[in-house]
Amino acid sequence: VWQQKWVVGNWKMNGRTESNRALLGDIAALPAAERVCIGIAPPLPYLAQARAATAQAGNRIHLAAQEVSRFADNGAYTGEVSAHMLADAGADLVLVGHSERSLYFAETHAERRQKLENVLAAGLQPLLCVGETLAQREAGQEQNTVAAQLDVLANLNSRHIAVAYEPVWAIGTGKVATTAQIAQMHEFIYRHILSLCGSDVNIRILYGGSVNEQNAADIFSVAHVDGALVGGASLKGGSFAAIIRAAE
Ligand code: G3H
Repeated sequence: VWQQKWVVGNWKMNGRTESNRALLGDIAALPAAERVCIGIAPPLPYLAQARAATAQAGNRIHLAAQEVSRFADNGAYTGEVSAHMLADAGADLVLVGHSERSLYFAETHAERRQKLENVLAAGLQPLLCVGETLAQREAGQEQNTVAAQLDVLANLNSRHIAVAYEPVWAIGTGKVATTAQIAQMHEFIYRHILSLCGSDVNIRILYGGSVNEQNAADIFSVAHVDGALVGGASLKGGSFAAIIRAAE
């Protein structure tokens, strides 16, 4: 997995049992892609449905959760879902720090850290999302911003670091970062992780933000792009399959 390209579909708050059936059918029918690790992150009520479909596909598809509680295990935290529950439900990957969580839920650095620790304690792999806003990029602050976001990884008890670089201005906008911008940021992120976590860590850096079947091959050809976190295009079986093919 740490040599493969990762293609993870983040469904966000989309789906219904019936429409999921068709999409999951397409995903389960994907031909085995030896060099690609495929993941899907459906909304929680559909995790079991997705699990059944991926089991049919011989569990080649990893299940991911879009969010996790900052509280541990169990307790009186109405509405929350713990990392242990996600593990129990069959997830093995958990998104942490997606910009939509900061934007709409004011998630803090300390909360992200707690979530990372909970995910690791449950034996799951976190996928930390980082990325600058347009204003931060225009002010020349993209590297400082992302470095500060990555600092949540310092002294984390894990030798496996997975990060998604998602410039906020490219998410759901159809405005993809240029390959030069991606190359520069992924190189920067790679070096920053090494300086924070030591040189003996396994690292995967995914790009996210308006990835589609047209631009995926170019993006995957950039150094230190180890995969993609795909939003909108992961809701269409054909597009998601084409992105996986581009990663092969
Ligand atoms: O988690 C996925 C990203 O936010 C990208 O979303 O592909 O719809 O731009 P998008």
